[in-house]
Amino acid sequence: MVVVKVCEDIFWVGVDDKRNILFEGLWPIPDGVSYNSYIVKGSEKIALIDTVDKFYSKEFSSNIEEIVKFSEIDYIILNHLEPDHSGAIEEVVKKATKAKIVSSQRGINFAKAYYGEDFETLAVKDGDIINLGGHSLKFITAPWLHWPETIFTYDIDSGTLFSGDAFGTFGALNGKIFDDETDVRKYESEMKRYFADIVSHYSQFVLKAAEKIKDLPIKILCTTHGPVYRRDPKYPIELYLKWSSGVDEEKVLIIYGSMYEHTAEVAEYLAEKIKQQGIEVKSFNLCKVHPSFILPEIIDAKVVLLGSPTYEGTIYPPVTNFMEYVRIKNIRPKTFGIFVNYTWGSNISEQIKNKLSENGMKIIEPVLSVKGKLTEEDKRKADSLVENIIKII
Ligand code: FEO
Repeated sequence: MVVVKVCEDIFWVGVDDKRNILFEGLWPIPDGVSYNSYIVKGSEKIALIDTVDKFYSKEFSSNIEEIVKFSEIDYIILNHLEPDHSGAIEEVVKKATKAKIVSSQRGINFAKAYYGEDFETLAVKDGDIINLGGHSLKFITAPWLHWPETIFTYDIDSGTLFSGDAFGTFGALNGKIFDDETDVRKYESEMKRYFADIVSHYSQFVLKAAEKIKDLPIKILCTTHGPVYRRDPKYPIELYLKWSSGVDEEKVLIIYGSMYEHTAEVAEYLAEKIKQQGIEVKSFNLCKVHPSFILPEIIDAKVVLLGSPTYEGTIYPPVTNFMEYVRIKNIRPKTFGIFVNYTWGSNISEQIKNKLSENGMKIIEPVLSVKGKLTEEDKRKADSLVENIIKII
């Protein structure tokens, strides 16, 4: 990709990653992802803001050299130390010999842990300012977006906020850097998936950071993943606020695993009955859909129905795996219905109930326990479960 001028003296020098299949080794990225980095060229000093994944060090170096000589860089500002933004540091500090690494004190500690001690550092606090000449960079602490060390950098003169992971999205840029040269709405589902997979655990910190920047005149929003927003910098901020706010939509998710379609048959019966009541239902078979694509739905669903067959006397592994994602992603308390299917094995409904309850989930009765095919009695019980769901919705 070519470097792009963001505004007077500010340049995008990032890269697209279309090589990785899984972000963080966990999350599918079929449309890739961008690692955005920026250069701010003041009249007296030059700052590089964030770097890129180590794999792209060579392409990144050549991008930087289109704008400045490495020897001219005074500051390398690291808003976030996760290696998708700091990995190229080793390469950069070898060449930018006079540059100081600037970050929060925690960020500096992380930089030393990852990349050694062979560079000068400058730890910044909330409200500190570095003047580059015509561009005064103010630092705003914004912890847990998405690690504890994270900061925002705000250029007072151009009104540009460099926000790190916050307000970012999956999806490579493919040469279209700005929100006004692409259809940003096509990023919305990938942004919600990025939010759910990476940031949602820290929703309360999104709200705190948004409160801190609410009076800043932000003219340009530069995140580390996804487009640069110069037409509507509020657009991703408002979406993040909506998703962090804890407001549920009136929809039911049906999430299940199924080996031989018997659990799927129960899921389909429940979906049909709920739809007949005019309520939105979305169904996901965990044997076919990665949890990454389900988490964005669960964060704002009012009711979730979870179904599993018995496997070796316990919960079917894809369902166990999903519940573990729900636990570690700190999904806030929801109402769960449970349906299980077994013919000769154990009834695992209590196991599921216990796991969900341990994570603060409420269980809606009755729990459906089906042996093989749905019987008329099972259907009556399913109808009663649906009635109780309708009352909640
Ligand atoms: Fe894009 Fe938390 O790193």
